[in-house]
Amino acid sequence: MKSSRIPGFYNKTVTERTEILKKWNDFSDEDIAVLSSEKSLPIDIANNMIENVVGTLPLPLGLGLNFLINGKEYIVPMAIEEPSVVASASYIAKIIRGAGGFTTESTGRVMIGQIQVVGCPDFQLAKEMLINEKNKLVAACNDAYPSIVARGGGAKDLDVRIINEESDSPYDKMLILHMYIDTCDAMGANIINTMVESIAPLVEELTKGKVYLRILSNYADRSLAKATCVIPPKLLASDGFTGEEVRDGIVHAFEFADSDPYRAVTHNKGIMNGIDPVVIATGNDWRAVEAGAHAYAARTGRYRSMTTWSVDEQGNLVGELELPMSIGIVGGATRVHPVAKLALQILEIDSAEELAQVIISVGLAQNLGALKALVTDGIQKGHMALHSRSVAIAAGAAGEMIDMIANKLVEEKEIRVGRAKELVEQYIK
Ligand code: MEV
Repeated sequence: MKSSRIPGFYNKTVTERTEILKKWNDFSDEDIAVLSSEKSLPIDIANNMIENVVGTLPLPLGLGLNFLINGKEYIVPMAIEEPSVVASASYIAKIIRGAGGFTTESTGRVMIGQIQVVGCPDFQLAKEMLINEKNKLVAACNDAYPSIVARGGGAKDLDVRIINEESDSPYDKMLILHMYIDTCDAMGANIINTMVESIAPLVEELTKGKVYLRILSNYADRSLAKATCVIPPKLLASDGFTGEEVRDGIVHAFEFADSDPYRAVTHNKGIMNGIDPVVIATGNDWRAVEAGAHAYAARTGRYRSMTTWSVDEQGNLVGELELPMSIGIVGGATRVHPVAKLALQILEIDSAEELAQVIISVGLAQNLGALKALVTDGIQKGHMALHSRSVAIAAGAAGEMIDMIANKLVEEKEIRVGRAKELVEQYIK
């Protein structure tokens, strides 16, 4: 049975780690070669991805370890510049695997395409016309993108709303048509936009109005993924803190974020610290996921915590995270970017739904990592230890010098580039 629990991975060299990774999924040297900075994104591929290309911007790619989700082992590739995120995710995933791992579920992959219609002579009649012609509209969408229908997806249903019905202004009274589209394993932006653009003339004919916007909604609230963990307090105990103290601190921290937007933004940023690196590593659109996640956090009319933390009857800490996940494993950069392709192979996932469930689990782990640190030692202790390495490198340290100088900076409690430069000079002399 292979396991994502790899003790001592942190202390190995990059070469040793890639050797371990090769064994994880029988990768060849050639497969793994894309991880080198020269090969990760060849300039001719980059040049075909966006416009006005002059180069590429590499990010560190780390592996989140110890993830056990619905009984399956996952190694999670994470692309991020911030120290301590990958370490914290792996540390918390280890605690959660000790409690049986994450349990996840999702609602399926229904995405939304929006069509805005203005100037209808009779908005109520226009709404009825669209609802009555549902089958025709759904079929017209599907005719515009037959390949997704062949894969079992496509437009399935629709909904119509009239916005600002009582308004006297000609600008804000409008009819909004939602087409519900199963995009299967694709994030689906192209599929959705092609479909809604193609049916605009039919919509104008039926409503006698004028269509302006035809675009997907990134508020993918029919493409939700949810992760849950249940942790006995004894697994939360740390230096000088009982498990119960840590558990209660975490619930207080959740209540703070849930009640106060100033805290909620930071709390949720910490969750996105886990989510974005996986979204980026797999070549997905992290702006879409970010926008949808924050909107979902405000779905009750107030911006709140994305996670919930509570105590069950047995005294266990129970954590939950549910968010819209507009991601895919086909199309876009997921299959163009060499590292994104490898990241999907490392994850060994079969569907976009499964990827969404892994991503949401990492978000939940990341939140617990931040809260556990915040209610115990504070965030700086762990951060500074890792930050000291970046400071040592910024001061010119290389090779074995990095760890020596980083350790010295932590010992002296003076993590400054100026001090690190002095230490580098002393070392060189
Ligand atoms: C830092 O990147 C993220 C945290 O601020 C999150 C939090 O405060 O919950 C530590």
